[in-house]
Amino acid sequence: MLITDKVIVVTGGGNGIGRALCRRFAADTPRAIVVADLDGDAARRVAGEVRGTARDADVTCEGDIQRLVAETMQQHGRIDLFCSNAGIANNGDRGIRVSALCPQGVRTDMLMRAEAEDRSFLIDGAVEPEYVAELVVQGIADERFLILPHPEVAEYVRRKATDHERWLRGMRRLARPLQN
Ligand SMILES: NC(=O)c1ccc[n+]([C@@H]2O[C@H](COP(=O)([O-])OP(=O)(O)OC[C@H]3O[C@@H](n4cnc5c(N)ncnc54)[C@H](O)[C@@H]3O)[C@@H](O)[C@H]2O)c1
Repeated sequence: MLITDKVIVVTGGGNGIGRALCRRFAADTPRAIVVADLDGDAARRVAGEVRGTARDADVTCEGDIQRLVAETMQQHGRIDLFCSNAGIANNGDRGIRVSALCPQGVRTDMLMRAEAEDRSFLIDGAVEPEYVAELVVQGIADERFLILPHPEVAEYVRRKATDHERWLRGMRRLARPLQN
């Protein structure tokens, strides 16, 4: 996708990387740049510089994001590129542990419904939900991040990290028939 003629939103656009993005995008004649920032004055300064629109928005507030999107859609009719750039540096460990359960097929109503409609590709090797629940308890006890009832998923994660473009192409290919 080229920047020319695109409608672009940059959060945290008032300083640093976001401001540099706005300036660089402006050089490629986009249709519109919306500079959103917690610091409204900074957003207005950058918007003035790039002939964009400034918006006061705190990305930690869902209402602000909804308003930002709605106002941009109202004004420009579309958003081609949303740079979710705003963020802060913090000092990470507050004792919160996270585990992500990533199964392939699990024999639940969801899978069986898809199977009945000939839309499932996960039935081979599908496991029972009780087996998944047992692994979750073990994974939490071990404070493991990834809980993988199907060990081959570990290889998919590796492939995703080493060639994410290929992985995304594959996932899009898999998802296409499920959308019909
Ligand atoms: N600078 C680095 O070395 C570095 C490295 C890796 C990642 N990042 C990430 O890049 C992004 C931009 O960082 P930067 O270095 O340009 O920071 P910066 O502090 O220079 O600029 C951040 C901008 O985001 C705005 N902002 C902060 N919280 C906000 C919120 N809740 N809602 C809306 N706007 C908010 C600030 O007002 C500021 O204008 C951040 O997500 C940061 O975590 C930065």
